Amino acid sequence: MKKWIMTSIGMIWAGLALNMVDIHQAVAQMPSAETDDPHYQYADNKTCGTCHQEKLRDYQSSMMGKTPYDKVFRQFYAAVNAKGEPDGIGFRAFKPNGPSDCASCHTPDVVLDAGHELSLEEAIKRGSKGISCDYCHTIKDVKVIYDPDSKRYDTRLWKMVTRARGNVKRGPLKDAKSPFHGTKFSPIHTRSEFCAACHNNQEHLLSLDTYHVWKQAYDKGVVKQTCQQCHMPVGGKDRRIAIGGPVRPASQIHRHFFHGGHDADMVKKAATMKIETSNDANGLVVKVDVTNSGAGHTFPGAATLRNVLLVVDALDDNGKPLAHVGSKKELLPPLAGMGKTPRDFGGHVGAMFARPFATKTGKTPTGGFNADHVLFDTRIYPRQTAHREFHFAKSASSHGRVRVRLIYRWAFKPLVDKKGWKMDDIVIFDRKLSS
Ligand code: HEC
Ligand code: HEC
Ligand code: HEC
Ligand code: HEC
Ligand code: HEC
Repeated sequence: MKKWIMTSIGMIWAGLALNMVDIHQAVAQMPSAETDDPHYQYADNKTCGTCHQEKLRDYQSSMMGKTPYDKVFRQFYAAVNAKGEPDGIGFRAFKPNGPSDCASCHTPDVVLDAGHELSLEEAIKRGSKGISCDYCHTIKDVKVIYDPDSKRYDTRLWKMVTRARGNVKRGPLKDAKSPFHGTKFSPIHTRSEFCAACHNNQEHLLSLDTYHVWKQAYDKGVVKQTCQQCHMPVGGKDRRIAIGGPVRPASQIHRHFFHGGHDADMVKKAATMKIETSNDANGLVVKVDVTNSGAGHTFPGAATLRNVLLVVDALDDNGKPLAHVGSKKELLPPLAGMGKTPRDFGGHVGAMFARPFATKTGKTPTGGFNADHVLFDTRIYPRQTAHREFHFAKSASSHGRVRVRLIYRWAFKPLVDKKGWKMDDIVIFDRKLSS
């Protein structure tokens, strides 16, 4: 037993030593200039993760860490369903060949090398490593370009981003010393403008407006945090940020999981809900207030497929549904799902918070690439409250029972069904009360 343990420890050390040799070789090959080196080859995330283990674990679980291999992104780009069959839904159905902006944010490294748009197929052929550790930590500056006259941004990546590729890793620490690479304090890494490079997209419409909405709310003091303060939270125990580094206070250590619309705990931080029931001459009135109390931008977020549903049910004492007597505006649109499952809420009493785009011929939902107009924008802006009222017939018994659900979906259900994607609803609230 003891011998087995000793052998195992020996093997672990041998393994670590081997990794270290790899690293020394990798680092030795990196030129150490602080200016941008056009011949520099980005390191793999795994190389950085040998010493920055927590960072690598966090980042591999994130959506940014998965792109461009995230299936939903690829299938929407290629206009194929989950089985890989062409289905006419997505970017390549609109533009079968040639470059596009998709590669810019999903494979930024090779697009910046090129200095112009590439097709995603070409970007992958050129060996893009996606949005990598090394990509982010060799960025020197990001400029947000906005023309107040036309009220339009210029979001072309190569106009916004300046790089300093090389052996110097830039980050938020003023006193970091690594025996393996240079370090440099970089204020841009602590600012929302760093994220703006990709979280704003000016097409015909401003199809992603996360930074834009955040900036307006932040300048007014409505939102007090940066993107990083909410999406790269500090905390936990004091610990090392790298093998070979000192133990640091937790307040200096930023988690890298970038939780967003695919994470139930994160989504639940965004909203609060208040319900009031009363009776008027016609029957039962249910008033619901939904507040964006926790997001630094709209709720739901910018991505054109996200949606939040308010689903309202009213029953009499015997459990029989009360008839809806309000206007059609109190019913959920077809984008809430038109299938036959209990999750298809199209036509059900409720409300949708979303910003679906439509093409010239009225096809919805669609991406920014062929959007002609916004069908409606009912997303809730930071710290704003959406008020909704629903009207039901009088209850035959003296009391009625009301159930109100608030549900988040990262894509419209009709699209998810057509694509054959797997999506769970995130139930933010499920409240039952008697009126
Ligand atoms: C300006 C940068 C930018 C460009 C250009 C861009 N994207 Fe994205 N994409 C993003 C960001 C940022 C997100 C995450 C947005 C969010 O959740 O608010 C995203 C998310 C997505 C998603 C959702 C993925 C998921 O799993 O939920 C799809 C699909 C997608 N993009 C497809 C495309 C396609 C197709 C193109 C080209 C027509 C494109 N994107 C161009 C930045 C960009
Ligand atoms: C062999 C170990 C090792 C490897 C490999 C390594 N690092 Fe580091 N890194 C360190 C150490 C040690 C520190 C300093 C830690 C401290 O001071 O707390 C550090 C610090 C940093 C910092 C902080 C800089 C600052 O001023 O804020 C960044 C960013 C960073 N590394 C990124 C990377 C990236 C990106 C890679 C891959 C290209 C990488 N590291 C590979 C050991 C390593
Ligand atoms: C999307 C860009 C992005 C990617 C990808 C990324 N980082 Fe970071 N990283 C940041 C930003 C921004 C900060 C600073 C956050 C702040 O101070 O507000 C940071 C901070 C750090 C720090 C300084 C210590 C700390 O906790 O603040 C280290 C070390 C680091 N990152 C390593 C890595 C490694 C290793 C990877 C890959 C596994 C990685 N990063 C991937 C953006 C990124
Ligand atoms: C190089 C472009 C780029 C930069 C820089 C960037 N992002 Fe992203 N981000 C993306 C893309 C693309 C996606 C969507 C990936 C996918 O789903 O395929 C994304 C996804 C996300 C998500 C997850 C969305 C979801 O619904 O799950 C969050 C959160 C996020 N980014 C936050 C940030 C923050 C905070 C920063 C700045 C520290 C940042 N990003 C910088 C391109 C970028
Ligand atoms: C006050 C905290 C806070 C700030 C500041 C903040 N976010 Fe968020 N963010 C959230 C919460 C909570 C969610 C989950 C709810 C949602 O999706 O709207 C979220 C969701 C997201 C998503 C996924 C949205 C979706 O539904 O597709 C992205 C991408 C994102 N944030 C990026 C950013 C960027 C970029 C910034 C800075 C410009 C930023 N966030 C600032 C709290 C914040």
